[in-house]
Amino acid sequence: MVVPLFVFFVVFRYGEIFKTQILGCPCVMLACPEAARFVLVTHAHLFKPTYPKSKEKMIGPCALFFHQGEYHTRLRKLVQSSLSPDAIRKLIPDIEGIALSALDSWAASTQVTNTFYEMKKFSFDVGILSVFGHLDEGYKEKLEENYRIVDKGYNSFPTKIPGSAYHKALQARKRLNQILGEIICERKEKRLVEKDLLGHLLNFRDEKGKTLTKDQIADNIIGVLFAAQDTTASVITWILKFLHDDPKLLQAVKAEQMAIYQTNNGGKGHLTWAQTRNMTLTHRVVLESLRMASIISFTFREAVVDVEYKGYLIPKGWKVMPLFRNIHHNPEFFSDPQHFDPSRFEAAPKPNTFMPFGNGAHACPGNELAKLEALILIHHLVTKFRWEVVGSESGIQYGPFPVPQGGLPARFWKQSSCPSQNMCP
Ligand code: HEM
Repeated sequence: MVVPLFVFFVVFRYGEIFKTQILGCPCVMLACPEAARFVLVTHAHLFKPTYPKSKEKMIGPCALFFHQGEYHTRLRKLVQSSLSPDAIRKLIPDIEGIALSALDSWAASTQVTNTFYEMKKFSFDVGILSVFGHLDEGYKEKLEENYRIVDKGYNSFPTKIPGSAYHKALQARKRLNQILGEIICERKEKRLVEKDLLGHLLNFRDEKGKTLTKDQIADNIIGVLFAAQDTTASVITWILKFLHDDPKLLQAVKAEQMAIYQTNNGGKGHLTWAQTRNMTLTHRVVLESLRMASIISFTFREAVVDVEYKGYLIPKGWKVMPLFRNIHHNPEFFSDPQHFDPSRFEAAPKPNTFMPFGNGAHACPGNELAKLEALILIHHLVTKFRWEVVGSESGIQYGPFPVPQGGLPARFWKQSSCPSQNMCP
């Protein structure tokens, strides 16, 4: 597990459950599936999500992941409806359009592409699509420009000193609210009833007929965009690295995707939902990449009362951290865990041992969309393009999610314009 430098660890007891201190706060680390399930699923009501105040302020305190209970359930239903299989299957042609235009631009570039940076743009555009449907280009640019400033300041030192990255991010966050206000006004004027996230949030009425406030709508939109971007971009970047490092596997994935490409009249037809559900090998590559990279290495909760677990007392106010990465890399559940082997997913993992999208009340509602984005991008990449990783830098960079060193610098070619077979993998 990766520990930021500022975190001071005092480990009292090693093992699958142990106590430690993070910045002076007592914390119980949980590296076994049963304990993670206890906290996230069966006794989730005894533990609340906990984030630093500075982060909560940046995203917006009304975003669903800071809450539990009735408000959380209500908002979660709305977010889930906009990300349900029925909703996301309709996005396939648009996601294909976004993927193809991104791939074309990388292939046309004479510069080395920073894969992670470009994947962030790709996942942001898909996020915008799922939140707003077809959004006016001008609004999209303004949202992207300000969101980028928020993104930069999010992990910086939280100081309100003018000119600091955090202060700039707070200012940009305010501007995002104004832009969202304009988009909402326009949609209300046009009386459009859309099935995207904004539509679900605007149409909501509680049992007394009350609607959501402007802040509740804005914070949840920014929250979803935030949850969707770096996570998905990191995983897709890892997929490209793992495929690049294993030419045999790449050939097998390519064969699977070429069969679909041929069925679709040489790529002229759109991918269907059924085809994306039938990419057996590619899907296993996605799952294995999620396991290997364990983008969300852990999550934080706080005990809201004294809790007893298997004879241990977790006092009220203590933090608990289910450690997903440790579970995903435990040889008891995944043999030879450091080896990239998609075939391990031919059999379902043991219950509660594979949690790249979390578990229980706060489990990721965007998991199907994230996998769909990855499958669509891989389909177009391997059937129409080639790529080569530049440089021999290995290693991992954290920002805060793990990504290949340097964001995986790479060159992309359209297959027909590949300079030489030897230059492209
Ligand atoms: C590969 C990409 C992704 C990964 C690995 C991932 C992982 C996770 C995890 C582990 C959680 C639970 C955190 C916790 O329990 O504290 C979570 C929550 C969440 N994710 Fe994702 N996520 C991904 C993509 C997405 C996408 C594409 C969206 C939306 C379009 C999304 C929206 C959310 C939201 C809104 C929550 C909060 C749910 C709640 O609190 O009820 N995520 N995600």
